[in-house]
Amino acid sequence: MRHFLTLKDFTKEEILEIIDLGLTIKKDLKNGIHKDYMPKKTLAMIFEKSSTRTRVSFETGIYQLGGHGLFLSNRDIHLGRGEPVKDTARVISSMCDMVMIRTFEHSKLEEFASYSKVPVINGLTDSYHPVQLLADYMTMIEYGVAEGAKVAYVGDGNNMTHSWMMLAAKLGFELRIATPVGYEVDSKILEETYALAKISGGKIFVSNNPQEAIRGATVVTTDTWASMGQEDEKEERIKAFAGYMVDDLMMCLAAKNAQFLHCLPAYRGQEVSDSVLEGHANIVFDEAENRLHAQKGLMVWLDRQR
Ligand code: CP
Ligand code: NVA
Repeated sequence: MRHFLTLKDFTKEEILEIIDLGLTIKKDLKNGIHKDYMPKKTLAMIFEKSSTRTRVSFETGIYQLGGHGLFLSNRDIHLGRGEPVKDTARVISSMCDMVMIRTFEHSKLEEFASYSKVPVINGLTDSYHPVQLLADYMTMIEYGVAEGAKVAYVGDGNNMTHSWMMLAAKLGFELRIATPVGYEVDSKILEETYALAKISGGKIFVSNNPQEAIRGATVVTTDTWASMGQEDEKEERIKAFAGYMVDDLMMCLAAKNAQFLHCLPAYRGQEVSDSVLEGHANIVFDEAENRLHAQKGLMVWLDRQR
């Protein structure tokens, strides 16, 4: 049995296999072909933070695979009022076939997985958002920018950045990160990804210079400056991130026909200008839709490992 907690635990071949399976299931769906890959299987979806895409994609995805999703927010289950993680994990995994969790500390997800009898999927923690990267790379393949990618990430050193670092380190592409001083990526994760990148041939650069990161990039990406749980820091962050908005001037420095990705939700006028987001709306909303297809590939893949 395998869990999907970070991309660190997966080989390049496995990551590409999951995305490829997602693309096959997507093609079938577009042709009106429905296959019950997971008949009568249940997916418990625990949400300790808000969500639009993750909730809708997982719930729709498991249904389309022939199964059923249970939406469990903190208000619905006792986990939200102090029932231990290890008890919750043993109860839920004794009745359901798979669990997806969105929570704060990554260690909570790891604890849940260590007590779970069924595969556990990371639906976002403070440290990582790996399912988003499956959809992002699927989108890069579809738009022809996966091969020889030079990705620039401009913004906060957060769960999305760490996941981009893991993907670059595993698949072996170039990633240039620019964060403001004081908002850098986690140094331990950086060391880990440097070590993995040495094996894969990936290149990871970090700086405090967004222009330097974007120059010549074939894919540009960013994320909110204040993640879920950082609402109180919003004003202070807006000041600290001055000069980090991905706008048309910034995009001019990227390679010709460079693509722009955003995991969404986007805050126009902060990490991205309205014109850049709307100018790349096709790819950004295909990226959002690919959450559905990539995660269907992931669920089927994990189900087959059991
Ligand atoms: N990108 C993403 O995970 O979106 P939600 O927070 O809406 O799930
Ligand atoms: N970094 C953001 C991603 C949202 C999908 C957050 O954690 O809120």
